[in-house]
Amino acid sequence: MTSLSGKNAIVTGGTRGIGLAIARGFLEAGATVTICGRKPENVQNALDALADYKDRLLGISAHVGKSEDLEKLISASEDRFGAINVLVNNAGTNPYYGPIVDSEDAAWDKTMEVNLRGPYQLSKLVARKMLSSGGGSIVNISSIAGLTASPLQGIYSVSKAGLIMLTKVMARELGRQGIRVNCICPGVIKTKLSEALWADPQAEKQAAAMKALGRVGTTDELIGAAVYFASDASSFTTGAVLTVDGGMVL
Ligand SMILES: NC(=O)c1ccc[n+]([C@@H]2O[C@H](COP(=O)([O-])OP(=O)(O)OC[C@H]3O[C@@H](n4cnc5c(N)ncnc54)[C@H](OP(=O)(O)O)[C@@H]3O)[C@@H](O)[C@H]2O)c1
Repeated sequence: MTSLSGKNAIVTGGTRGIGLAIARGFLEAGATVTICGRKPENVQNALDALADYKDRLLGISAHVGKSEDLEKLISASEDRFGAINVLVNNAGTNPYYGPIVDSEDAAWDKTMEVNLRGPYQLSKLVARKMLSSGGGSIVNISSIAGLTASPLQGIYSVSKAGLIMLTKVMARELGRQGIRVNCICPGVIKTKLSEALWADPQAEKQAAAMKALGRVGTTDELIGAAVYFASDASSFTTGAVLTVDGGMVL
């Protein structure tokens, strides 16, 4: 049931970290996959890392905050692999760490553009395609910061809470037309984005202490949840919010 054979997926931010792991997991499960990131060198590095699957893989430089890039991403995936069955809105950013009262408007705009407006726009464009091709699955990568008011990550928290509600609203609107929309909330996974929380051994110890499993996570530990939501194994699940956080938000 977790086979993705015959399914065509887009994974935004698939050039490193969680997105790269999800792209690899999808390829191993049999899907065709289009990944994107802003920087061409990151796209090339990911293509090199996944070279074993090169016949079922496409890499595009695209910024999820730019409408024209989103159109380009969709067209490239369709032209190469056909109708899109799965979209993973994974690209994310967290440019500001500090109290809301000290923040600049630009930090708000940047965070919302990438973490919320990008998924909104891309989901809308892809869902329109899915409506005419018989349905599909959209998976949003939110965060446990979207469930709790994370200290010094207020703007990021607001953007990720918005993504959770976007998941629920679109799940309700699109369910009868065969489009499922679900959401994963990771918590402290070792990537570039979360470096401040684990690069220093003392910081990692603190992060680990907050988790029932007593450790932070690895990118591969997101694959199971993403494959589940992308595949027919989750055929009766929509609007769900799944924490993959080692037991932190309990
Ligand atoms: N790591 C964690 O502990 C954690 C916890 C909770 C939630 N998350 C969420 O998980 C998702 C993935 O994060 P990560 O930790 O894997 O981060 P990461 O290692 O920094 O990777 C981010 C990826 O997104 C791409 N990206 C960034 N901005 C983009 C944009 N505007 N347009 C297109 N692509 C963009 C990056 O490539 P370029 O730089 O080349 O654009 C890269 O491929 C994010 O949504 C993040 O909020 C992570």
